[in-house]
Amino acid sequence: MQVRRISAEERLSHSFPLQAYAFEQSPAPAANTDRWRAYLPYNEGNRTLVAEDGDTALAAATAIPMRQNVRGQMLAMAGIAGVATHPLARRQGHVRTLLITLLGEMREEGHSVSVLYPFRPSFYARFGYVTLPKRRTVSFAPADLGDLNRADLPGEVTWERMSAGYDTYREFMLRLARERHGLALFPDYRDARLRDDDERWLVTARLDGTVIGAAAYKVTGYNGELEVDDLLVTTPLGRLLLLRFFARHVDQVSRVVAGLPADELPELWGTDLQVTVEGHTTIPTGNAPMARVLSIQALAGLTVGPGRVTVEIVDDPFLEGAFTLDGRGGALEVTAGGESTAALSAAGLSALVYGVLDPEELPLRGLGAVPADAARELRALFPRLVPHVVADF
Ligand SMILES: CC(C)(COP(=O)(O)OP(=O)(O)OC[C@H]1O[C@@H](n2cnc3c(N)ncnc32)[C@H](O)[C@@H]1OP(=O)(O)O)[C@@H](O)C(=O)NCCC(=O)NCCS
Repeated sequence: MQVRRISAEERLSHSFPLQAYAFEQSPAPAANTDRWRAYLPYNEGNRTLVAEDGDTALAAATAIPMRQNVRGQMLAMAGIAGVATHPLARRQGHVRTLLITLLGEMREEGHSVSVLYPFRPSFYARFGYVTLPKRRTVSFAPADLGDLNRADLPGEVTWERMSAGYDTYREFMLRLARERHGLALFPDYRDARLRDDDERWLVTARLDGTVIGAAAYKVTGYNGELEVDDLLVTTPLGRLLLLRFFARHVDQVSRVVAGLPADELPELWGTDLQVTVEGHTTIPTGNAPMARVLSIQALAGLTVGPGRVTVEIVDDPFLEGAFTLDGRGGALEVTAGGESTAALSAAGLSALVYGVLDPEELPLRGLGAVPADAARELRALFPRLVPHVVADF
């Protein structure tokens, strides 16, 4: 068995068939080749590795070179996707070998964190990933927003097909990503699918020409739902302008359903607004995203709190060793070495960096040994945060 990076064209024969078998209805009624060929440009800069025996691909895994805001810094992030093994080659360690090689190569190229959507979180927990919050959805009847119809609001709203408004949307996402912890961005070649598929309307709120809110959405039918992928705003006015736009669908759709960060409180958006907020995780198709740190040195400069501690990272091919983490200047300083007072697994460190677990939880979850003194410093360094990944892959 050898591991090899395949060329773009080889995806048609080596990785797409394995993925199609794993994730789609099969055998397909018609040959997939034309559909796959059309999909190639959106994979252009991805790194796909296969484990092969002679000419036969036994397993495949892909990394998308993405970017992600982690505590205020845009970091190069490896988005892992398309992990699949030939049905006769499963449980033989192929994906373990592929993933370690792939993450190592992405790390060499400067990707300091990684995100994926697991089929089963425990599978990726053994590779150092920790669960991040899943986006919530809010749903409400547009009739509940009737008050907004008469509201006198500054600013304006633009409505267009995604193919027409894509550049505006992308620019807004790039700006938003610089402000929001956890937000992940596809590379241009992959994101362009949103424009080319053109399966969304785009509504944009602006004040003095600056975009302050945007929603990509579709309508499922007359008296159906208006489904917004993610309601993304930078100001309360941006949200109100979008909500007023939705209110004007009162005799067209019965519900508005919108994706939201896990810490949003839509019951506060208006008076007499009846909302249902939901979050579901399901194995294998509806899991929360997971993330891990690939390089601790690359975290230098993150916006952190005033703590200082030396930790030993254990049992990980990418992070092993002792590191002193110092946040007393407001930006994280990382120095190799020191007398460690806590031991963390890769997932334990990742949980703290992303802000999703308290240090006290780590020993209880088997993610480290953290005495009370070290927990206090780690808590000061890495205050809790709610990452909102947005990108789904
Ligand atoms: C899930 C899948 C990718 C695993 O690939 P594989 O080559 O069989 O995995 P490996 O043999 O390298 O197993 C790696 C580790 O995970 C464990 N593992 C394998 N399948 C598992 C599963 N379904 N659930 C939990 N653990 C699993 C193995 O025991 C092994 O543990 P170890 O290294 O600590 O001993 C493969 O079975 C598959 O293609 N399934 C269908 C498609 C799919 O679900 N893809 C995942 C997309 S995110």
